[in-house]
Amino acid sequence: MRVREVCEKWGIPGVAEVLEREGILSLYPPQEEAIGRGVMEGKNLVLAVPTAGGKTLVAELCMLRSILVEGGKALYIVPLRALASEKYEEFKERYGPLGVKVGISTGDFDTADLRLAKYDLLVATSEKVDSLLRHRAKWLADVVSVVVLDEVHLINDPGRGPTLEVLTARLRQVNPKVQVLALSATVRNAEELAEWLGAELVRSDWRPVPLKRGVFWDGKIIFEDGEKRKIGEGEALSILTLDTLREGGQVLIFVNTRKSAQTVASSLSEKVVMLLGEEEREKLRQVAKRVEGALGEPTRTCKLLAECVRRGVAFHHAGLHADQRKEVEDAFRGNLLKVVCATPTLAAGMNLPARRVVVRDYRRYSEDFGSTLIPVLEIQQMMGRAGRPKYDRYGEAVLIAKSEGEVEVLMEEYVKGEPERLVSKLGTEPALRTHVLACVASGYASTVGDVLGFMEGTFFSHQFEVKTMKGVVERVLDFLEEEGMVRKEGERLLATPFGELVSRLYIDPLSGVLMREGLEGISKGEPTTLGLLHLICRTPDMERLYLGRGEEMEFENLVEERWKEFLVPVPEDPEDFEFFLAEVKTARMLESWVEEVHEERIHEEFGVGAGDIRRMVETASWLLHAAHELARLLKVKKALRPLRKLEERVKYGVKEELLELVQLSGIGRVRARNLWKAGYKRLEDIKRATVEQLASVPTIGPETAKSIKRQVEGREWSGI
Ligand SMILES: Nc1ncnc2c1ncn2[C@@H]1O[C@H](COP(=O)(O)OP(=O)(O)OP(=O)(O)O)[C@@H](O)[C@H]1O
Ligand SMILES: [Mg+2]
Repeated sequence: MRVREVCEKWGIPGVAEVLEREGILSLYPPQEEAIGRGVMEGKNLVLAVPTAGGKTLVAELCMLRSILVEGGKALYIVPLRALASEKYEEFKERYGPLGVKVGISTGDFDTADLRLAKYDLLVATSEKVDSLLRHRAKWLADVVSVVVLDEVHLINDPGRGPTLEVLTARLRQVNPKVQVLALSATVRNAEELAEWLGAELVRSDWRPVPLKRGVFWDGKIIFEDGEKRKIGEGEALSILTLDTLREGGQVLIFVNTRKSAQTVASSLSEKVVMLLGEEEREKLRQVAKRVEGALGEPTRTCKLLAECVRRGVAFHHAGLHADQRKEVEDAFRGNLLKVVCATPTLAAGMNLPARRVVVRDYRRYSEDFGSTLIPVLEIQQMMGRAGRPKYDRYGEAVLIAKSEGEVEVLMEEYVKGEPERLVSKLGTEPALRTHVLACVASGYASTVGDVLGFMEGTFFSHQFEVKTMKGVVERVLDFLEEEGMVRKEGERLLATPFGELVSRLYIDPLSGVLMREGLEGISKGEPTTLGLLHLICRTPDMERLYLGRGEEMEFENLVEERWKEFLVPVPEDPEDFEFFLAEVKTARMLESWVEEVHEERIHEEFGVGAGDIRRMVETASWLLHAAHELARLLKVKKALRPLRKLEERVKYGVKEELLELVQLSGIGRVRARNLWKAGYKRLEDIKRATVEQLASVPTIGPETAKSIKRQVEGREWSGI
């Protein structure tokens, strides 16, 4: 079926032309099947189709029909921010010119954000939508007509899954007429998902470019259909890579640690560089320059990445700065970079196809469970990255066997094996504590029966007996009552001001309890930076650094020296003490950040990359904001100013004296310090300086000098 026919049949103006310009002329078979099942007539749908199967287009057509024909609004929910930006940019570029107002919302959980109501198509993360529902953003219930759940298989993830199913149940409760489209990888129990959502199911193994999957051993790839192909002698990764590059393809390699990604990239780059032409080298030099300069002060990792990029190879992992990851993705899509070595984080939903995907590792190490097998679903998502529509006739995905005996196992388990069943993770106390409080605090439930009634709409209740849920909900309510977040008046449940605030701040109730305990412990004098940072590092909302063997001593000494600064007593129990040390280590990392320690040193001392720092900084400033609001409610006045100041300092990674300068756009911690050293300490000083004077300050240069001049002169400046 042609795209044009679909658009004409449902009277969607302008869309066929846009899609045709992009080379999208006719529907893929699963897309056609989705339309045949009534998705354009408003039926709910679960679309379980492999990677790159074109799931988004079905959602696009549905959303656009609703927006352009019926004046409805669409909400496109994704699990990750990077994916939100990718989708937002794509939708805006395609449909903005048709008058569709496309918006994005990912951060800032503390508001109802009325501005969002003006968009026709809003791309948002699941956490953002959940927080909007807590603020009872009315437009969500009144005008949203289509909800898309992208990458819905993440319902299986213990961290993100519960939020996803709760928000789905809530959206359907407040807006029973809403159409739900769930886009999923191929999973074992897609039927179950469809039953839960009262949806039609389209399930298919179809791919736009055929995928050949196999296992590499002893110089050959053995494919699932029995075909064998000789590649050659030598180290597996390098011969598999060069083989594809020589034929003009690109290679994506998955390994299980960041360190491996870096070493593999670095060692391959020495060989890949030989295959590059002069023009490519020049373009790669420009990309390299940008990735090296992304932080303002290049760390060793930045330099290594730049060095690899110059040779046509990159590594990609969560330790990189978001700008660096984007540079790498763009250069790979543009066929400039020939090889990317990534950790599995890249596998989720980003559109980065390669002719050959090589999966080297199928085990990974986690702190809690030691070395574990990577789930089939994840490995198959990685393999699914192979095959670039438009460029390749087929894609190839290869697992590397480390012994002859493994060939069979990998083939049966991962290549031919069926992915795991999705299982709801909502039934745990940490997940329910948050969502039960939200139910009561946002006024969605005023009795235990209401809470349970709501929970009936979740995937959990669809999979398990209500009895199981009832037990946990009651335990959680007892906890919330004991901690003064919920009050019972006969049958009625009421949220206390403390409970309401905790829910509105979008923090775990346990975080609220721990923060309250710390804040109430403030006695004499103002709390210190370390004390406040440690307070937020204790909460379950903060990710904690791992305390390595041999590090105990260093942090024990620190605790001994600075014990007065902590807002809670140092625990005596050895196990608790070990946790405490990990919290202290995390707090120390943030303290170094706000003391303007060079990123390279933070990296060396704490083992965190630029991307980790940015991620933790973001969480920390949100938690400091939350602590500030709690201190206000609890009337802990002494903590208010220090918390406010620290939140700003953490955001920028600066000492207090630089807070004025970093408000300028384009000025981060490094440039601000350089300006300060050159005698420009306040905005007033910048006003008085000439562009030439400013441009001569290290790392500033003429462009930035002009921009900050413009800002202080008020043309782009609205004041602090
Ligand atoms: N009918 C079509 N004809 C041509 N190209 C198409 C068609 N449908 C989708 N595409 C293109 O295919 C690519 C992959 O589509 P999409 O991102 O929707 O995959 P997906 O199913 O969401 O995969 P993933 O599981 O990786 O998220 C996109 O670049 C899209 O523009
Ligand atoms: Mg997708």
